[in-house]
Amino acid sequence: MVAEVVNQWAVFTIILSGIALTTGVILIKQGNREAHMRAMLAASGLATVFLVLYLTRLGLGYEKKYVGPDAWRTAYYVLLISHIILAALNLPLALVALWNAWKGLRAAGNLSRIDLPAARPFFDRHRQWVRWTVPVWLYVAVTGWIIYLVLGRYGEVIKG
Ligand code: HEM
Repeated sequence: MVAEVVNQWAVFTIILSGIALTTGVILIKQGNREAHMRAMLAASGLATVFLVLYLTRLGLGYEKKYVGPDAWRTAYYVLLISHIILAALNLPLALVALWNAWKGLRAAGNLSRIDLPAARPFFDRHRQWVRWTVPVWLYVAVTGWIIYLVLGRYGEVIKG
C-alpha cells in the first residue's frame, strides 16, 4: 500500500520532469536563457526526486509483473528493457550537460555573455550533449508513463 503511493508519486514527478524539460527546450529556442536554466534545474530536481522515490519503492520490495495479452508481451518487454537501459544512460548524459552549462556560466559570469572565448567551448559542449540528453530523457519519461498505465491495467503485484 505504501509502496503503491510511493510509485504513484514517482510517476507524477517524472511526468512533471518531462513537462519542465519540454518547457526548457521551448524557452531556449525562444532565446530565454535565464528561464531555460530555471526550467532545466527544475527538471533535474524532479528527476532526482523521482530517483529517490523509485529506489525507495525498490527497497520496499514492490514489483509488478505483466499478465496481459500474450500478443503484446514481446512489445511490452522491448519497451521495458529499452526504458531501463536508456534511464540508466540518462543520468550521466544529464550530469555532463549540467556540468558544462555550469562551467560555462562560471566562465561567462552571466548568461548574456555566453560567447566570451572562455565560456564558448563549454556551451558548445553543452549543445552537443543535450542533442542526446533531451531525446533520451523524453523517451524515458514517456515510456515510463506507458509502462505505468500498462501495469495499472495488466499488472500483478509479485512482491510487497
Ligand atoms: C540537463 C539539463 C539541461 C538540458 C537538457 C538542456 C538543454 C538545452 C538545449 C536543448 C539547448 C539548445 C541547444 C541547441 O539549440 O543546439 C540548450 C542550450 C543552452 N543551455 Fe541548456 N540545458 C540544460 C541545462 C542548462 C543549464 C543549467 C543552463 C544554465 C547554466 C543552461 C544554459 C544553456 C545556454 C546558455 C544555452 C544556449 C547555448 C548556445 O546558444 O550556444 N542549460 N540547452
